[in-house]
Amino acid sequence: MDAKYMSALKHQHERVHTLRAQVEGACVDYVDDSTAEHWQALAGAFRGLAEHLDRHFSFEEHEGFLVDVVERMPESAGRVKELREDHDSIRLAFMDWGRVIESSADVAQQSEIARNGINALLETLDEHEKREAALLQEAYLRDAGS
Ligand SMILES: [Fe+2]
Ligand SMILES: [Fe+2]
Repeated sequence: MDAKYMSALKHQHERVHTLRAQVEGACVDYVDDSTAEHWQALAGAFRGLAEHLDRHFSFEEHEGFLVDVVERMPESAGRVKELREDHDSIRLAFMDWGRVIESSADVAQQSEIARNGINALLETLDEHEKREAALLQEAYLRDAGS
């Protein structure tokens, strides 16, 4: 990948971390103080992360490093396939949770979402990004070192 792509990718990953932290923080705020304002803030942060992830995943998939990595390291094909499958399932999960968030009206349900539901989704996302970062390191460090 060229330097421009890699720098854009790095910037996008920083943005994933920032938006993810905002969602986590909004969940904590809502659990602390379950006001309508905090719920709206949580819903907004969640939408922001979902929209960014949708663009980010496309950026990685189409002519991006997920294509390039397999060309460099054909043995990584299975891992790349898993990362692509993660994208599909994470996109779906964000759509589903987005609908649940938009339609939930009572504090009990909202608290459950803020305490447990979203955190489980964030963990799935972290786990994906961790495996992806490891693969990126291997592919591009190996290349730089040879
Ligand atoms: Fe990814
Ligand atoms: Fe990523």
